Amino acid sequence: MLDRPSGIPEAPLLDERALARALSGWHFIGGRFVPARSGKTFAVHNPATGEEIGRAADGDAADVDAAVENAAAAQREWAKMPARKRGALVAKCGALLSAHAEELARLIALETGKALRTECRVEANVVADIFEFYGGLGSELKGESVPFAPNVLTVTVREPLGVVGAIIPWNVPMLLMALKIAPALVAGNTVVVKSAEEAPLAVLRVCELMNRVLPAGCFNILSGYGPECGAPLVQHPKVRKVTFTGSVEVGRTVYQTAAAKIIPVTLELGGKSPMLVFADCDFEKTVMGAITSMRFTRQGQSCTAASRIFVERPLFERFVDALAAKVDAMVMGDPLDEKTDIGTIISPTQFEKVKGFIEEGRATKGASARVCSRLPEDPALKKGLFIQPHIFTGLPPESRLVREEIFGPVTTVFPFDDAASALAAANDSEYGLAASIWTNNLRVGLDLAHRLEAGLVQINQNLVVQANISYGGVKNSGLGKEASLEAMLEHFTHKKTIMVNYA
Ligand code: NAI
Ligand code: MG
Repeated sequence: MLDRPSGIPEAPLLDERALARALSGWHFIGGRFVPARSGKTFAVHNPATGEEIGRAADGDAADVDAAVENAAAAQREWAKMPARKRGALVAKCGALLSAHAEELARLIALETGKALRTECRVEANVVADIFEFYGGLGSELKGESVPFAPNVLTVTVREPLGVVGAIIPWNVPMLLMALKIAPALVAGNTVVVKSAEEAPLAVLRVCELMNRVLPAGCFNILSGYGPECGAPLVQHPKVRKVTFTGSVEVGRTVYQTAAAKIIPVTLELGGKSPMLVFADCDFEKTVMGAITSMRFTRQGQSCTAASRIFVERPLFERFVDALAAKVDAMVMGDPLDEKTDIGTIISPTQFEKVKGFIEEGRATKGASARVCSRLPEDPALKKGLFIQPHIFTGLPPESRLVREEIFGPVTTVFPFDDAASALAAANDSEYGLAASIWTNNLRVGLDLAHRLEAGLVQINQNLVVQANISYGGVKNSGLGKEASLEAMLEHFTHKKTIMVNYA
């Protein structure tokens, strides 16, 4: 029976503020809630009001060491468990998370400012689905037999890597964590997660729920800042694999540290994803597609956000007008209000960063912006980090708004004259995560799909992450794939060859 500090109930708690307070001040290590060794905590804020909603344990190298030692000790037994049984436990975690989906959705809305109805419920349900999907894949950890020579039986087996360090960001923290830990655990690894300092609470609850099912030490979570807590996790000698989602800058540092240790890494580092719209597309579907592709309901805080939209010239004006009208009709407001479509930016730092891009765009000669929706009028939200969606046209290709990841509700739209120039413009980026093409001419669409530099290309749709669809970028967008069976096999196991000479 799990030992829970007072106030953390076993049953789902739909009072998100009470849950945030109850979860304050803890890491989760070795099957227990524990405070930071230093005794320090830091504040967690509701970005819609600025209020402090709770506190998080401020982790450092001593906490990392405790978590990794616990994970390493647990890993020996966990790896001995039959793979299908590990899978069954992970699937059971999925069912438990599903039963707590509404609670988790409310808590993530409170700490991230994302709207409950349009974003947080979706995230909570996808999380449960990811655990259920990977839970069924235990028996797929298969090796091969190799025709080496008569009388030499040669087989390969898949073995876990050991302790996996997972560093996650704040935009979809539960989902991005699930993509890492579900395959890692089923493959027989144990994990230490370092949560994002902006959103440490919902993932802590996920960890606690899963620890009701998993053996102690298999899944540990630390909160803390990047340099003080994330860096020592990557450096720890017993961490044998690191999986990271976040900025290119930090991803590069993680990769360098991993290189010195000769351990594998998976990096998911964002993007500047193009959307190519042809004049023969289904117009209404494509306009709605632009809204989901750009993740306006997540304030554009998405690694796959369609932040560069290329529209065939005859359709350009009509498309921009229709897109602006639709986004204009979206409601910004209290993330927990069922009427709200669009919530807030995560933190004052990101708020200033996004504002900086917008000012630069507005000051650019020849550029103009459609500013959509309305800031909420509720006085309780006057300190909220709300930014109106901006749709820019007329920006030059060298603009920072076109080249850099803004991670805010800002997209850029350009006309194009032919498929070749659209392709060249789309590929003119340091990133290569995702892309979408909207046309009824599949010959054109498929040709472009093969030539776009991206890890995931979709034609006439732009779905969010799916558990069984491989996901991950090329170029600066990162290294390695997440989701799907292959991600588990290629990134959380190594292949050992065993040869038996029975001549
Ligand atoms: P970040 O890359 O600094 O943070 C992501 C995670 O890395 C957090 O858990 C953070 O604590 C950790 N971290 C930071 N420094 C570290 C270090 N030296 N060693 C180990 N871990 C470290 O991203 P940040 O500052 O939150 O956002 C900045 C920009 O990064 C965003 O504007 C966006 O462009 C991009 N980003 C991309 C994401 C994606 O989904 N690919 C997610 C979040 C941010
Ligand atoms: Mg940072």
